[in-house]
Amino acid sequence: MENKKKEGRYSRIYKQLEALLSKTEDSLARMATICAVLHHKMDHYFWTGFYLYKFGKLIVGPYQGPVACQELEPEKGVCWAALKEAVPVIVPDVHAFPGHIACDSRSRSEIAMPVVDRKGKILAIFDVDSDRYASFDEVDQSALCDIMKLIYRKF
Ligand code: SME
Repeated sequence: MENKKKEGRYSRIYKQLEALLSKTEDSLARMATICAVLHHKMDHYFWTGFYLYKFGKLIVGPYQGPVACQELEPEKGVCWAALKEAVPVIVPDVHAFPGHIACDSRSRSEIAMPVVDRKGKILAIFDVDSDRYASFDEVDQSALCDIMKLIYRKF
């Protein structure tokens, strides 16, 4: 998708999510709503979901798309890299990423980013897979960072 079009779409999604998420403070309900909205509005999203960081593991939470790995093999792949480095990770070609965990062989590119609570603690990783190469860039990263902040926002 062309970048201007993508920015416009993210900006409309952000406003829609603000309205929807203000109705509950429950973080799981908010995550589920974010997945549903993004997955159905962004053409390049093939798998959209959260891995919750619990008991030292990354365990699947709310998601949309094909059935995914329930627990990610520790210290491996894109989501663990985003967790350990505490930064968003953009992968244009998943086959070129050492240790990439393929929950579905159709995945080609990916973005993963930490979800932090109000104290700055990482509670989850938000992960999106595309079935096309190089689907994600700084436009996605910046828009998704803003959307992730809505999960623990007081409205
Ligand atoms: N590819 C991810 C695993 C999660 S799936 O893409 C849904 C990774 O390498 O961490």
